[in-house]
Amino acid sequence: MQFLRIDSVYYVMFTKLFLIGTCWCCLVYAGGSPVENEEIEAQNFLKTINSKTEENQHSLALAEWAYNSNITEENLRNQLAVAAEVAKDEKEIWKKVIQYNWRQFLDYSTKRQFSKYAILGSSALSEDKFRQLRKTISDMKAIYAKAKLCDFKDPKKCDLALEPELTQILATSRNPDELKHVWLEWRNTVGVKCRNLYNDYVNLSNEAARLNNFSDTSEYWLNDYEVSDFKQQVQNLWEQLRPLYLQIHAYVRFKLREKYGDVVSEKGPIPIHLLGNMWGQTWSNVADFALPYSGVEDEDLTAELIRQNYTAVKIFKTAEEFFKSINLTEMPQTFWERSIITKPADRDMVCHASAWDFSDTKDFRIKQCTEVTKEHFVIVHHEMGHVEYFLEYKDQPVKFREGANDGFHEAVGDLIALSVRSTKHLRKIGLLKSKTDNSQTILNNLFKVGLDKITFLPFGYLMDLWRWDIFSGKTKPENYNCKWWELREKYQGVEPPVDRSEEDFDPAAKYHIIADVPYLRYFISFVIQFQFHRAVCEKAGQYEHNNPDKPLHECDIYQNTDAGNALKKMLSMGSSKPWPDAMEVLTGQRTMDASGLLEYFKPLQNWLEEENKKNGVFIGWEPSKKVCKKSNTDLKSN
Ligand SMILES: *[C@@H]1O[C@H](CO)[C@@H](O)[C@H](O)[C@H]1NC(C)=O
Ligand SMILES: [Zn+2]
Repeated sequence: MQFLRIDSVYYVMFTKLFLIGTCWCCLVYAGGSPVENEEIEAQNFLKTINSKTEENQHSLALAEWAYNSNITEENLRNQLAVAAEVAKDEKEIWKKVIQYNWRQFLDYSTKRQFSKYAILGSSALSEDKFRQLRKTISDMKAIYAKAKLCDFKDPKKCDLALEPELTQILATSRNPDELKHVWLEWRNTVGVKCRNLYNDYVNLSNEAARLNNFSDTSEYWLNDYEVSDFKQQVQNLWEQLRPLYLQIHAYVRFKLREKYGDVVSEKGPIPIHLLGNMWGQTWSNVADFALPYSGVEDEDLTAELIRQNYTAVKIFKTAEEFFKSINLTEMPQTFWERSIITKPADRDMVCHASAWDFSDTKDFRIKQCTEVTKEHFVIVHHEMGHVEYFLEYKDQPVKFREGANDGFHEAVGDLIALSVRSTKHLRKIGLLKSKTDNSQTILNNLFKVGLDKITFLPFGYLMDLWRWDIFSGKTKPENYNCKWWELREKYQGVEPPVDRSEEDFDPAAKYHIIADVPYLRYFISFVIQFQFHRAVCEKAGQYEHNNPDKPLHECDIYQNTDAGNALKKMLSMGSSKPWPDAMEVLTGQRTMDASGLLEYFKPLQNWLEEENKKNGVFIGWEPSKKVCKKSNTDLKSN
């Protein structure tokens, strides 16, 4: 979660489940009464373990918060100790749970809660291995959080952190050498140091998955989606979206070449350090020189926020006001007291924005090193969307206090931000100055949103394509880095500024890789948030299919409680039903569908296709001339 940190993490302790295969009490009684009696007993048992689980998740969240907001040895020790205790309890609970004949239970909710308890997750590891896994992840997070680089222009100034300095340089510098320096040094400082730790992490994580009867961690992660062909569904979505991506990719490469000359080739992949973001995952920071209509309403949202004296608090209050206006919930008083919304000067902290549920139905917080920028403006809406979800499902049994799937959780705040970012809404809250819309202003704005949303899609997909093959063993440790670049090139059409080798470890320069956070959720979110947007906009009477007066990209559900109530209904279900049921409640659809996104961006796609044709721009990319070798010595000798 951060840059257009649309990919912020939300934090809940989930025990992953899977169904242990041995059923030793499968006698079916004709009168059913022994099973029914067992079920009544099971419901009492469930009450007990639910309150124990709440308590445990509460203490663990407190210990995790203490460490993540203040990285010290002592806080790490404490966090590891609490986690070990909780793991022990979870194992005890699990041992009892699997004695029950729960697959035969008649009550849906009881049965579903048992099915969730029946997957133990990493607590299945031995005490020693469990501790090692937790410590390995915490160590990588500390390397990432504490990294400081030297300045390109002033090499003696060596206190540049990812947030805010490096992010800022990537967003605003137009000096390719400075951008290359920052890009490369971040990887030299974080990536390389995490390589051995990452190998340990992969082994331990796979061991935990196998103890839960999964073949490896990738299977464990995918199990959460509850449908067997989920991977194929995702691949199909990407195939549908790829033509749109190719158009924006080709157009931006053309613009970058106008700006930077031969640093950018005419037909090759785009040099990734020029895209305004440390990972090349969202590109809105290059909008200023790539706008479809330059000079028309191209005022920058960051500049406007600063001009109007926005602060972190004011951005948070603005976001909250939107949620309240559609009848969602205001942030509790303790949220304002306990959240950390600006970077503390007196300690090391994990700055990567995150939203926290402390599992006591009262305490919810955000931790974010908020800067007054357009990116953080969107991230705040994103994080608060997580908290809205927490608040809506807080009265569900503890095992259902999750998103319908994790992509749903990521989609809530983004969905709201789609309304917020319409020219209509920005004008309403005084962040866009012109009096009225014209088609050029609207297309410029749609392009800016596209630079965040369309460009992210291949990145959101390939992050776990890479990890799935790491966990399954299909990609061997000696190929980790080169495989990474193979996928980057294949899906995103980007290349590194310099040759790479297996002595580098570039994936670890991205937070979610080292923090053990699956990433497919963001790809899912980027697709379904447009389905959700279409549904709430229909409810608000602001969108009609094929009506040019009510296009999807200009819909703003602000103050519309019909739209808000429909959303609320889905959110309040938590994970009490499989995700297609939740999706149906809001959209009437039971499958993920790329047509929402494609419809939203249709005017942009038309414009890009015409513009690219007019400019004779090459669509797609030829193979990169950069190489990735086994070792640096190879590079030199070849
Ligand atoms: C950070 O944690 C240490 C314990 O390791 C504690 O003494 C200190 O007060 C904490 N700092 C803040 C600002 O909470
Ligand atoms: Zn998030």
